[in-house]
Amino acid sequence: MSRLVIVSNRVTVPEPGQPQPPGGLAVAVHAALKSRPGLWFGWSGKVDDGAAVEPQTVQRDNVTYVVTDLSTADFQEYYNGFANRVLWPILHYRVDLAEFNRSDLTGYLRVNGLFADHLSKLLKPDDVIWVHDYHLIPLARELRSRGFDNPIGFYLHIPCPPADLLFTIPKQEQSIGALSHYDLVGFQTENDRNNYGRYLAMTGAHQGRDGTSYALDGRVVRIGAFPVGIETKDYAATAVTAVDSHFTREFKESLQGRKLVVGVDRLDYSKGIVHRVEGYRHFLETAPDWRNRVTYLQVTPKSRSDIPEYNDMSDDVNRLVGSVNGEFGEAAWTPIRYVNRSYPRTALAGIFRVAAAALVTPLRDGMNLVAKEYVASQDGEDPGVLILSQFAGAAAELDTALIVNPHETEGMAQAMRVALEMPLDERQARFKVMFERISRNDIDRWAETFLAKLSETRRSFLIGQLR
Ligand code: F6P
Repeated sequence: MSRLVIVSNRVTVPEPGQPQPPGGLAVAVHAALKSRPGLWFGWSGKVDDGAAVEPQTVQRDNVTYVVTDLSTADFQEYYNGFANRVLWPILHYRVDLAEFNRSDLTGYLRVNGLFADHLSKLLKPDDVIWVHDYHLIPLARELRSRGFDNPIGFYLHIPCPPADLLFTIPKQEQSIGALSHYDLVGFQTENDRNNYGRYLAMTGAHQGRDGTSYALDGRVVRIGAFPVGIETKDYAATAVTAVDSHFTREFKESLQGRKLVVGVDRLDYSKGIVHRVEGYRHFLETAPDWRNRVTYLQVTPKSRSDIPEYNDMSDDVNRLVGSVNGEFGEAAWTPIRYVNRSYPRTALAGIFRVAAAALVTPLRDGMNLVAKEYVASQDGEDPGVLILSQFAGAAAELDTALIVNPHETEGMAQAMRVALEMPLDERQARFKVMFERISRNDIDRWAETFLAKLSETRRSFLIGQLR
């Protein structure tokens, strides 16, 4: 079996008992590496201006983790700048929030070059390379220019908007356009895939007869939809054990018989937390019989706190939560518990199993694995209800959830009532369909399908070249 080399911006080296790292990418990549020899390269999460610091290597089971620090300029221009103030907002359909500086693009391209330099010392000829997410789009071009001919795949964990929005990215050919240097590019949904196909066609690429390959400037790239999954079986088993843990029992007691509604998201404007709290406020206004009978727990680890848009949003949520608690709270009841921290999987699975409903209502999301984790955690005999945004990639698969438009406050409030009052047989029927889907399309299947398609793509391209 060839070695799998994963490259992503942030690398999380697993430490037993540590909180689950926020974001779906880490969860997916850990699972993909579980059953094959691998190397995972990327940023350590540390900023250090020490001259020419060499990457650090850590071995855990069958995976070698190699991490590098970023300099202050790299961190500001590549990570805080172009990746998270241009690509992130535009790919989440928020052109209004994008802030472009030419120096940030230069930094973005420079760090991709640096990553390629480090990788040049680590790669072997038969490695299969799989690059993850929007921070590293130009990496294949950098590796090819250094003479590497390995199969290189790319997976975009976040949404891919329509071509018109992709063209708003300044110098788009240097970032999003560089995806055409990969052998295979994977997207979360058919919709994302089609958006990129249209963009390629508009840049002059020729679509192959198979409908999935595009030829451009002598290169061929294949694109496909590979919806990311979770470790469904493990997650479900964790939830069964977690429900009897000291943590979950204590937490359940603290609810004093009230129903629990839960949300778990990184603090990010794409997650629609403000819209969700507005929906909950409207619910409490219009369903007075539910006051003091429900508690909403919003678990929100802070992220990207050097970026102004994230701080603005943090202030908005703090203000709004305070005002809802002030308006509706009582001496012995806090309507919203808002916590800026992350929890280990065992704790989250227990919380999910106790929750009568989950609010997964992003304004835009590539997939949203919390939706799947909530479903996996449920007791099939008495399952909770998933309230899911139509703008999360997960809605394409989990269509028996209560699907909502997060921009419609009244619809959100109505869904909360429907969820909390839903009869058992309807909850069971909706859950059954979703659980079957996430069991079939789990994380192993995602990784296997993508990697099989990558090797098939290489074979067919090589045969094509010989003809
Ligand atoms: O899932 C999208 C993503 O940007 C991942 O690439 C990343 O690991 C995660 O969110 C967390 O973001 P950050 O690394 O910026 O804290």
